[in-house]
Amino acid sequence: MACNEGVQATNDDASECKRCAAQLGYWEDRYISLFVRAGEKKPPEINRGYYARAKGVEMFIDKFLKKSGSERQIVNLGSGFDTLYWRLKDSNKNVTNFVEMDFPSVTARKCYLIKRNKVLLDKIHVEDGEVRLSATDLHAGNYHIVGVDLRNLHEVEVKLNESEVKFNIPTLFLAECVLVYIDAPQVEQLLSWIAKKFDSALFVNYEQVNMGDKFGDVMLRNLRARGCPLAGVGACQNLDTQRQRFLTTGWNGSLSWDMVEVYAALPASDRQRIEHIEFLDEQELLIQLFQHYCICIAWKGEMFSKIDIT
Ligand SMILES: C[S@@+](CC[C@H](N)C(=O)[O-])C[C@H]1O[C@@H](n2cnc3c(N)ncnc32)[C@H](O)[C@@H]1O
Repeated sequence: MACNEGVQATNDDASECKRCAAQLGYWEDRYISLFVRAGEKKPPEINRGYYARAKGVEMFIDKFLKKSGSERQIVNLGSGFDTLYWRLKDSNKNVTNFVEMDFPSVTARKCYLIKRNKVLLDKIHVEDGEVRLSATDLHAGNYHIVGVDLRNLHEVEVKLNESEVKFNIPTLFLAECVLVYIDAPQVEQLLSWIAKKFDSALFVNYEQVNMGDKFGDVMLRNLRARGCPLAGVGACQNLDTQRQRFLTTGWNGSLSWDMVEVYAALPASDRQRIEHIEFLDEQELLIQLFQHYCICIAWKGEMFSKIDIT
């Protein structure tokens, strides 16, 4: 399964980039350095790209939290070493349940790192006084990490049940650079299963878009060379194909924006602050990068139908 290994390694890349940008002060993340060592310093356009990604996704998480009432849950698909659980805790944004899913080899590493770290462990909300850990899974009061291949729906359902997920409370699904690694029919099967099972859900997907041009071609070739083909790139042709994937799988509505638009929608004072962190020589390159990533949201039920970028 060399291909899976290449895909799993993308988590190390993403975590390293997030650590680098957070350390430079683009945004606050006190936890990412507990999961990944410092790597080489990344170029400014990569740091800004990650800033737009982190803040863009956060903008929709906040919108979900504002609309969803007191009983709500978050399911992070292909979560890698994401630290959202701890960051939400620090900002007193409570959720009833928080579930992370990734390949067992990735969750095993995450569980191991959490087990060894008091800062991480102390923040995990424990209702029944214990954190249950296996080699690949962690179950605590309202936090669950489960090892699963998202292409196997039966396994996904079993793991969600083990995590005490409720199908009738508002649920946010996050997928940051994940669906693009999965074959289109399997993504469609997953999306329609979620739309069928959950009464009220918001899906926030961040990944590539406009991949049919030269820039996209180079990106594809580079990833393929690293043993990481983008099996799901068909849905990444444009903003419309991103939305259609949800509209044909039972979701009630969908909107999408490229990262040029998402970046412009972030508060001007925040943009000014981060634009002073590093001098950016390659404006053109940053714009090209922004044009090739997007956020696509989709909702099931009425609760999240009015969510927009503004
Ligand atoms: C680019 S990383 C992103 C990690 C995290 N979402 C972030 O933004 O930091 C992609 C993640 O998706 C996971 N992934 C890809 N395909 C998967 C599948 N079929 N089942 C479970 N996880 C998968 C990989 O293992 C990896 O951790």
